[in-house]
Amino acid sequence: MKKVKYRPSVARMLFLSVSFFLSFNALVLAQDNPEDQAVVQETVQGAQESNVEAEPSGGDAAAGKELFNTLCAACHKLDGNSIGPPLRGVNERRDVDWLHSWIRNSSELIAAGDEEAVAIYNEYNQVAMPPFPQLSDADIDNILAYTGQPKAVPQEKQPGDAAAGTQGGGQGGISTDILLGILAFVLLMLLVILFLVNRTLRRFATASGVELPVREKRKPIWKSFVENQFLVITTAIVLMLVGAYFVYGYFMQVGVDQGYQPIQPIHFSHKIHAGDNQIDCKFCHSSARVSKTSGIPSLNVCMNCHKSIGEVAEGTATDEYSKEFYDGEIAKLYNAVGWDPETQSYTGETEPVKWVRIHNLPDFAYFNHSQHVEVGGIACQTCHGPVEEMEIMYQNAPLTMGWCITCHRETNVRTAGNEYYEKVHEELSKKYGVEELTVAQMGGLECAKCHY
Ligand code: HEC
Ligand code: HEC
Ligand code: HEC
Ligand code: HEC
Ligand code: HEC
Ligand code: HEC
Repeated sequence: MKKVKYRPSVARMLFLSVSFFLSFNALVLAQDNPEDQAVVQETVQGAQESNVEAEPSGGDAAAGKELFNTLCAACHKLDGNSIGPPLRGVNERRDVDWLHSWIRNSSELIAAGDEEAVAIYNEYNQVAMPPFPQLSDADIDNILAYTGQPKAVPQEKQPGDAAAGTQGGGQGGISTDILLGILAFVLLMLLVILFLVNRTLRRFATASGVELPVREKRKPIWKSFVENQFLVITTAIVLMLVGAYFVYGYFMQVGVDQGYQPIQPIHFSHKIHAGDNQIDCKFCHSSARVSKTSGIPSLNVCMNCHKSIGEVAEGTATDEYSKEFYDGEIAKLYNAVGWDPETQSYTGETEPVKWVRIHNLPDFAYFNHSQHVEVGGIACQTCHGPVEEMEIMYQNAPLTMGWCITCHRETNVRTAGNEYYEKVHEELSKKYGVEELTVAQMGGLECAKCHY
């Protein structure tokens, strides 16, 4: 009897080791797959790229890009919504003739009651897209060739590396295949052995007159689960914890706009101004030093320079933004201040530029720039990130209360050379028995300091 009773657990152990092997396999597979997929993707992308070079739609993507950036980029992105819909792959969504008439004059199509046109017009809040009668058929084909390009996958590897990587990936693939084959074979053998051992044991048992227990019908797993209160309760707790985690995560991101990057009425590049041309932040954001707010410069400040800078240098243009695009943006500035570059004089016709505010604390929180920049000596970049590299400004920090508090806990007050602090510092450092004093110890965690 004993021997026989032992049998299932032997089987179970074998089963366990089999599943262990299987999951091990799965792991190996899972680790290797992304590489393989990357290789496949690279090849596919390569194929697509060469396709683009062959220009299936008969347009010149490079010329199209230029046109797109000058005429369309104000309202369209390739990926993601802007004022108008994303245009990548639009040539697949729509008929080419339709696209031509739409781009030439969309209002005509809408007025004619074209179903697709009316639908998209309504979807985008009935914002009319301006007509482009100046575009030739070839121009439009070029633009469509550009929007038809597949999205570039950021490639970290250099071309040389990529080849090596592909090879490495290939080799990895082969060796895993062999490994998997061997493992599968071993597993199969194990199963066969298990089966044989089982049969032999049964034969022995019958031969020596041991009566084998007739296997009773197993309870379904869910039934035993429901009957096991401990398991039910643990599962419920685990589910609740996981649920709470996600709900908490959801609520914590409400009102946090980290990464917010709206489209501004004038494409103003901090990279070009603060980075390439090294213009000091405080030249434009002059009140950061002396007041609570930092402020956006008035257009007169821009005109100090732009009376004489009517267009950008050839070298300023990038793959993404052409010279024409940048020059068009400066023209917008001229329009707004009413500057006529021909006569070099103000026309008097101005229209305010409505910059979209990015950083914005709720009204109940008090933040003072001069306290941090001037008194605290904190660089703008500590909070605003690598502004001098931002082609388009975005919100770098979460601006949550936890963010403020963490920094106040970790940052020491700059007391050197500040008479006011010397006395305060003396007293407080005695009180806390420390040499350096954090903002928190100075009272930077008191609710009323930040809340009205
Ligand atoms: C002033 C903003 C603006 C400009 C500039 C602009 N568009 Fe549009 N475009 C829109 C809007 C808004 C829509 C959505 C339909 C509507 O509301 O009229 C749209 C829709 C489209 C559509 C239809 C998209 C779809 O999914 O069917 C195409 C194609 C298109 N635009 C191409 C262009 C091209 C090409 C240019 C540049 C030559 C351009 N647009 C310039 C605002 C603009
Ligand atoms: C030539 C003038 C100029 C210079 C120099 C400049 N800025 Fe700006 N800045 C602007 C304008 C105009 C805007 C509004 C448009 C935008 O958001 O891009 C702005 C917006 C910002 C904003 C976002 C404001 C908001 O709405 O929340 C921050 C933050 C900022 N600048 C920080 C900096 C820092 C830091 C530097 C120095 C590294 C700097 N700026 C240099 C003109 C300038
Ligand atoms: C201290 C001088 C200076 C000030 C002030 C200044 N700019 Fe510029 N701006 C430049 C220079 C230099 C260039 C780049 C020229 C080049 O690359 O050839 C430029 C380029 C530009 C461009 C084209 C590139 C881009 O960023 O899209 C625009 C648009 C522009 N400025 C707008 C503004 C606006 C709006 C303001 C005011 C908020 C402003 N500038 C203030 C010097 C200045
Ligand atoms: C300690 C962090 C911190 C530092 C340092 C800092 N800022 Fe800010 N900045 C903020 C916060 C927080 C806001 C949002 C303020 C609000 O909504 O009341 C902001 C808002 C802004 C704005 C939007 C307009 C405004 O005044 O609210 C500009 C522009 C700006 N900062 C520029 C700068 C510049 C330029 C510097 C460097 C001289 C700088 N900041 C340094 C945290 C900082
Ligand atoms: C990068 C670090 C940093 C961040 C982020 C930061 N602070 Fe500060 N804060 C300081 C420092 C340093 C001081 C001390 C300045 C001084 O010497 O008075 C300070 C001082 C203050 C004070 C005055 C405290 C007192 O006791 O007088 C207030 C109020 C304040 N911060 C509010 C905020 C708010 C609100 C935020 C978030 C929106 C914030 N701070 C984010 C570093 C930071
Ligand atoms: C260093 C500055 C600072 C201090 C000190 C501070 N807060 Fe805040 N608090 C903030 C900021 C900034 C926000 C806005 C955060 C946001 O918009 O996500 C905020 C938001 C809040 C909110 C709204 C909930 C939320 O997270 O948006 C409450 C409630 C609050 N604070 C309570 C307190 C209490 C109570 C204290 C004192 C124990 C305190 N705060 C101390 C800066 C501070």
